Amino acid sequence: MQIFGVDIGGSGIKGAPVDLERGDLTQERHKVLTPQPAIPDGVAGCVVEVVRHFGWDGPVGVTFPGVVTGGTIRTAANMDGAWVGTDAATLLARELGGMPVTVLNDADAAGVAEMTYGAGRGRGGTVILLTLGTGIGSALFTDGRLVPNSELGHLELHGHDAETRASVKAKEDGELTWERWARRVQKYLVHVEMLFSPDLFIIGGGVSRKPEKFLPLIEGVRAEIVPAKLQNNAGIVGAAMAARAAKG
Ligand code: BGC
Repeated sequence: MQIFGVDIGGSGIKGAPVDLERGDLTQERHKVLTPQPAIPDGVAGCVVEVVRHFGWDGPVGVTFPGVVTGGTIRTAANMDGAWVGTDAATLLARELGGMPVTVLNDADAAGVAEMTYGAGRGRGGTVILLTLGTGIGSALFTDGRLVPNSELGHLELHGHDAETRASVKAKEDGELTWERWARRVQKYLVHVEMLFSPDLFIIGGGVSRKPEKFLPLIEGVRAEIVPAKLQNNAGIVGAAMAARAAKG
């Protein structure tokens, strides 16, 4: 079965039809730059452009980098504040001419994809996927079941919002070496481990393509730590999975 997946991010909006048997894209994804300011109308127009690029007409799953409950956006740390309170599912369904739309948090989407097709496949117990990028996203699983909107990127760490210290953006903004940044990621993981005692951490986001640069530097974490496998496409695949689940 195929379903369309769209991943909304602070810099790009990308999507493709997803083959849910294989957990992979059926065609090369199409990406447009996120308009600035990233307000609902402008972003919705880009989602329409990405979906129409493939001539798609059917269920669409969409990720958003913030808390999403019942299709409504509740937080938007790295997007325009105008999103907060917007019923994104209804807005996007209308702009897409009535296609059924399911919206969920971006890290939750990446997490469900990794648990089914990637690094978390077949893993029980407590599993936490963390996406390190502009912010830090999290997906928390207990015996394969997602606890949505866990938002562990905003834990307080030494008096700071953790994502402002340990995200990839923090590394770039502060021009940190891999060693210095890995120390911050380590402190963050130790903190998350203190709270949840996970069996497995899956590290996603763009840096999961270079795990050798920082994962070997991380010490003092009991849980197993592995890089994500689906990397850039996890959000798109997870979005499509959520749309299929909503379809019943
Ligand atoms: C948001 C999360 C999101 C993460 C990654 C955070 O700032 O609060 O909802 O998953 O960034 O995009």
